[in-house]
Amino acid sequence: MLNIAIFASGRGSNFEALQRAIVEQKFPAAIVVVISNNSSSGILTLAQSFGIPALHISQRQFSDANYFRQNILGILRAFKVNFIVLAGYMKMLDAEIIREYPDRIINIHPALLPKFGGEGMYGMNVHRAVVDAHEKESGATVHYVNEAYDEGKIIAQQRVDVSPNETPESLAAKVLAVEHQLLPRVIKMLSEKNWEKGK
Ligand code: GRF
Repeated sequence: MLNIAIFASGRGSNFEALQRAIVEQKFPAAIVVVISNNSSSGILTLAQSFGIPALHISQRQFSDANYFRQNILGILRAFKVNFIVLAGYMKMLDAEIIREYPDRIINIHPALLPKFGGEGMYGMNVHRAVVDAHEKESGATVHYVNEAYDEGKIIAQQRVDVSPNETPESLAAKVLAVEHQLLPRVIKMLSEKNWEKGK
């Protein structure tokens, strides 16, 4: 069973797509806690509306990085989290947390990595860069998280066409729609693999 913690900073539409897929398709996974660094992010109220514990935890609430890390690790243990999904989390996850969950942290990125990844490549910046580069296709990538931005092993990608009159906004909508398919598909696959191994 995958006991998932979602880390996010924004509206949470990927969280919602995943939660709905888990409930509808009944694969062996559960979102047990949502953590946001942003107290006004939509995902906190959204998660609560699904009855899922949602916590605002930010480095700024702690006097140093160590307390912050210990707090997060404590929460992850308390909720028996064995898998982490970064879904629009605008912070770098602490390296020690990454080491605690080897091959058990994934991120969803709104482009076809390794292109259009790395520092500064988030949100509209990504779609603007894709349109400016006259790319013929873009898409979404789910990959494992390691200590370098957007460089962990790619698990799956889903493509969209970039039309000649595409705008960053229209591309963002297209890519988001495929993210909502890709993330549940990957979690389903990983949870079923995990299930077979009897974990
Ligand atoms: C998504 O585009 C995701 O790829 C990126 O951040 C966005 C989060 O959107 N990492 P939402 O909060 O899930 O709606």
